[in-house]
Amino acid sequence: MKISLVIAMLFSAASAMAFDAKKEFSTNCAVCHSIGGGDKTGPDLAGVTERRDEKWLIKFIQYAPGMIDGDPEDEEYKTPDPLAVKIYKKYKPIKMTEQMLEPEQIKKLLAYIKEQSKGKTAKGKILEVK
Ligand code: HEC
Repeated sequence: MKISLVIAMLFSAASAMAFDAKKEFSTNCAVCHSIGGGDKTGPDLAGVTERRDEKWLIKFIQYAPGMIDGDPEDEEYKTPDPLAVKIYKKYKPIKMTEQMLEPEQIKKLLAYIKEQSKGKTAKGKILEVK
């Protein structure tokens, strides 16, 4: 089972209220991602909310390894996701780590990324993923 699910069940209400998207991005995402500054370990996230749908983004951010490899023990991640596999091929061998975030927190994070993407376009290998 995904660790994030267990954590979400334990801490649900309190953590959603205290969530600071900007702080979350700079502590847990910026080490591997820029917004408009090109590839780091992971893809440039400028405009990511335009290129992918929200449901996919939430699912991917929660448990990227499950999206890339599939997880027979997890109903939602049983088989690899074709788009996640294509993205991984461009950025391997690094796999994005599982993030212990709830959907509501990820929505706030995505709103922050969207805001920070204004006037910027992604650069790097992510543009080769169609
Ligand atoms: C250890 C490095 C690392 C961290 C930390 C990380 N990522 Fe990633 N991320 C990656 C890599 C690498 C990929 C490309 C897929 C792969 O190889 O796993 C990726 C892919 C993505 C994608 C897909 C991009 C697209 O164009 O479809 C999104 C969205 C994303 N990350 C968001 C986040 C967010 C939000 C955080 C912080 C909560 C985060 N990542 C933290 C490394 C990381």
